[in-house]
Amino acid sequence: MRHLRRIGIVIVLAAIPVIAGLLALRPAGIAGAAETKGGMFKPVAPLEDLMSGIEDHFKALEKESGNTKSKTLKKDALVLAELFNVAKFHQSQKDYVDWATQARDALLKMPAAATKGDTAALKASVEALGKNCKACHDKYKKE
Ligand code: HEC
Repeated sequence: MRHLRRIGIVIVLAAIPVIAGLLALRPAGIAGAAETKGGMFKPVAPLEDLMSGIEDHFKALEKESGNTKSKTLKKDALVLAELFNVAKFHQSQKDYVDWATQARDALLKMPAAATKGDTAALKASVEALGKNCKACHDKYKKE
């Protein structure tokens, strides 16, 4: 009886490093697979820094929105759309995600408006975007 118990203890002790090794490998394996297959997206920059970049592009866009011939307007609108597309992943509350999505979608319409030379539509988009920033900040930006 006693030697059976000893064998049991040896087996348990031998299993610990194996189980620990499997647990250590598991998260890295899952994250790696998700990244390569375009699975769960994980932002790498803090929201504060992302927002600071959003502000720079927004200021540039405000200046360009009166000039449909601007060479950088489309790029700024698309980069800003992508930044909001990333900002979406920072929080999961429905209204937060909705505001980020609305900002992204408004920006995605701007290149076509610029091509059409529709200055009024561009100005309206920038104005709507400004309201969108404020709505989300009123609820989610502290201080
Ligand atoms: C979906 C919500 C949301 C939208 C839309 C949004 N923001 Fe923000 N913003 C936040 C949150 C939350 C913070 C606070 C981040 C923190 O300090 O962790 C923030 C912070 C900021 C900051 C301060 C960054 C710093 O350095 O502390 C600036 C500037 C900013 N936002 C600009 C903008 C501008 C400009 C727009 C619109 C073009 C905008 N944001 C739209 C959620 C949003």
